Amino acid sequence: MTTASSAPEVRYHDTVVRQFSLMAVVWGVVGMLVGVFIAAQLAWPELNFGIPWLSYGRLRPLHTNAVIFAFGGCALFATSYWVVQRTSHVPLFAPKLAAFTFWGWQAVIVAAAISLPLGYTSGKEYAELEWPIDILITLVWVSYAIVFFGTIGVRKVRHIYVANWFYGAFILAVAILHLVNSAAIPAGWMKSYSAYAGVQDAMIQWWYGHNAVGFFLTAGFLGMMYYFIPKQAERPVYSYRLSIVHFWALIFTYMWAGPHHLHFTALPDWTQSVGMLFSLILLAPSWGGMINGIMTLSGAWHKLRDDPVLRFLIVSLSFYGMSTFEGPMMSIKTVNALSHYTDWTVGHVHSGALGWVGLISMGSLYYLIPRLYGQKKMYSVPAIELHFWIATLGIVLYIAAMWIAGVMQGLMWRAINPDGTLTYTFVESVKATYPFYVIRVLGGVLYLAGMLVMAWNTWMTVAGGRSVRMPVPMPAHA
Ligand code: HEM
Ligand code: HEM
Repeated sequence: MTTASSAPEVRYHDTVVRQFSLMAVVWGVVGMLVGVFIAAQLAWPELNFGIPWLSYGRLRPLHTNAVIFAFGGCALFATSYWVVQRTSHVPLFAPKLAAFTFWGWQAVIVAAAISLPLGYTSGKEYAELEWPIDILITLVWVSYAIVFFGTIGVRKVRHIYVANWFYGAFILAVAILHLVNSAAIPAGWMKSYSAYAGVQDAMIQWWYGHNAVGFFLTAGFLGMMYYFIPKQAERPVYSYRLSIVHFWALIFTYMWAGPHHLHFTALPDWTQSVGMLFSLILLAPSWGGMINGIMTLSGAWHKLRDDPVLRFLIVSLSFYGMSTFEGPMMSIKTVNALSHYTDWTVGHVHSGALGWVGLISMGSLYYLIPRLYGQKKMYSVPAIELHFWIATLGIVLYIAAMWIAGVMQGLMWRAINPDGTLTYTFVESVKATYPFYVIRVLGGVLYLAGMLVMAWNTWMTVAGGRSVRMPVPMPAHA
């Protein structure tokens, strides 16, 4: 599609952006459906029907892989390919390789969707896929890096816009994390053993796990923030200088915080303290970035009233601020002693995942989809409004239920009678959690319903767009 700009007319490669955008919506629906299903299984365990591939232990990693790598991943590919072309004033470098990243990534997702329910897993959280799939991921990722950095390399604009710095850091860091953490010795086609052992294995895994949060679930989405908020608000970034400080401070600090996932374990105590210290420091760049995003609206606050797309983008930042305040607090050892192993962690995860990652992706896709199909706006703006409200209500129900459940569990597990025996049995804490699990299902259903509204709206926009882009041929005499 050709897009007019102040620069000379450039023909951008948008087929791959269209494909990734649509698949982000599709995988969003699938991943959240599995999320609702496993949430329901926690409330009503009979829902696994005694079928091994419907069991919670197999569907849980299917959920995390589907929402993070399929939904989040497709949104990141789509937006980064759109942004890097527009801000570099050149079409994608190596478009055939870009097409390979689309098909290769879909193949990874399908392989995950088959192998995880069948029970194949390396047992490492967020890196469960077995070694043949890991090799395919590596091939796709190297191709992605070539396309992205190649496009930067041939850019017509001297300056590299800050959104590209964040996308670039995400691509590089994920490559390193994947290569190091997935190192394994194959013991058959779908079985392998980690190259590391014992406490080193745990340390590497959570260095990976935490930076998967920092780079996959954060840096790339900050790239979205720096491009789509100024675009939708029609305002320049609040402080470009702050964005550069934000970038370097964030990527330097994230790398050291992983040990906060291993408090009170066999990991040396000083490493746990380093993890805690860097997590506390991380509050500063995280909030600096959030403030930079929100303040971009200076002088245009009124737009929040009647632009639901902007509302998705800005409210995502309030959840980002919330979860990046909560995270450093949970990394303090004494707080973690209460929160660890409880549903508080799950509440924290989903305030980041549903509130930040989910809403910013949806806002960015609502910006992109009409433009990709030659439309001025989505088919139905009231439907975007509806989506916003049911998603927000869903998030609030989900995370409030998990916070209450988590703190309650932590307190029940540590309560001790005067004679030193435990006040509550474990099963009593499970029974007490039941109502909160039901509320979580309700929150999840609302969030999923919002995603279905988005899928319908996308379908209608694409259908309308097609008719604009491909007019019915008229007879010569007409
Ligand atoms: C309809 C929406 C969703 C529902 C109902 C849902 C539900 C769940 C449930 C029940 C779990 C398992 C919790 C446990 O083991 O105790 C879970 C885990 C998880 N979900 Fe979701 N989820 C949803 C959306 C998302 C999204 C959009 C993301 C990411 C972008 C996400 C990321 C995760 C992660 C990372 C975990 C693992 C948490 C941990 O290990 O502490 N979820 N989800
Ligand atoms: C300043 C930023 C953040 C810090 C310092 C932080 C800190 C923490 C801490 C201390 C835990 C609990 C570890 C445990 O007890 O097991 C945790 C868990 C987690 N956080 Fe954060 N967090 C931050 C931001 C985020 C954001 C923005 C997201 C999502 C987009 C996120 C996703 C997760 C996930 C997925 C887990 C669960 C990992 C697991 O056990 O499977 N965090 N975080």
